[in-house]
Amino acid sequence: MKMFQPYLCRRCSIRSPVLGRMLSRYAMNGGDGPHSYAQNSSYQKGVVDVAKPIIEEEISRKLDIKHLSSTFRIADFGCSTGHNSCAAMQIITEAIRRRFEIEGLISQLPDFYVFFNDKVTNDFNTLFNSLPRERLYGAAGVPGSFHGRLLPKATLDFAYSSCSLNWLSEVPKAVLDNTSPAWNQGKIHYLGARREVCEEYANQYAKDIESFLDSRAEELVPGGLMALLVPAVPASWDPNSAYTTTTEIYLFGSCFMDMAKAGRFSEAKGHNREE
Ligand SMILES: C[S@@+](CC[C@H](N)C(=O)[O-])C[C@H]1O[C@@H](n2cnc3c(N)ncnc32)[C@H](O)[C@@H]1O
Repeated sequence: MKMFQPYLCRRCSIRSPVLGRMLSRYAMNGGDGPHSYAQNSSYQKGVVDVAKPIIEEEISRKLDIKHLSSTFRIADFGCSTGHNSCAAMQIITEAIRRRFEIEGLISQLPDFYVFFNDKVTNDFNTLFNSLPRERLYGAAGVPGSFHGRLLPKATLDFAYSSCSLNWLSEVPKAVLDNTSPAWNQGKIHYLGARREVCEEYANQYAKDIESFLDSRAEELVPGGLMALLVPAVPASWDPNSAYTTTTEIYLFGSCFMDMAKAGRFSEAKGHNREE
């Protein structure tokens, strides 16, 4: 099994090793209170809604239901606390059930199992509590980084991930190094940054996506399906004239910098002697 370094959100490249270690364990806010991910992820739910007809069509066109085994295994990589994940699992299992119905094979419908994956610090309790009573699948939690192998070889029929593959496994070292041409001057993102900075982030993303795909290639059965919903901006995007969610990152970045300057990241600052 391949092992990888702990991951970091690519939004969080504040120049601090201790803060870095802290953020590597960072997961979405748990529970269902006002600051929870569950109450603050309607944008991500919109992504699932937009993808629904595409996923349904691909299942109807590409899934070879005549050669499935009696158990159909689905995994959601980066499921968080579950509300959006449950909606997606409902879409996938319902679409497969419909295929069996339309083809007159409903008596051969397999048992569905969903493996919900996220970091070990994720609030899996909220996820399991929010599973719908009426569902077609059994559920299991799989904690750990999706940049490595998580499931046995050739056991997975459907790999799914939404709004999670944009998380990097680590901040590229050069952007934190003030002697490097790729130093990002403490900024938390590459937007508007020099070419060297963008290249460091792009290289890190290439490494991460490769390790994700290599791992899934081993886990998927022949003929298995994969649906990856990855936030991105069009190549033609001009940050000066058009708004996207990435524009918010400027705002977060300047807030983080103000908080760091005000000593709110005191532990990190105390340990970060090179700053
Ligand atoms: C923005 S949330 C998306 C959650 C859910 N898929 C949705 O659409 O609402 C991103 C999730 O990816 C998880 N994540 C990030 N990097 C990960 C990794 N290397 N392995 C497993 N989960 C990871 C985070 O902990 C977080 O819960």
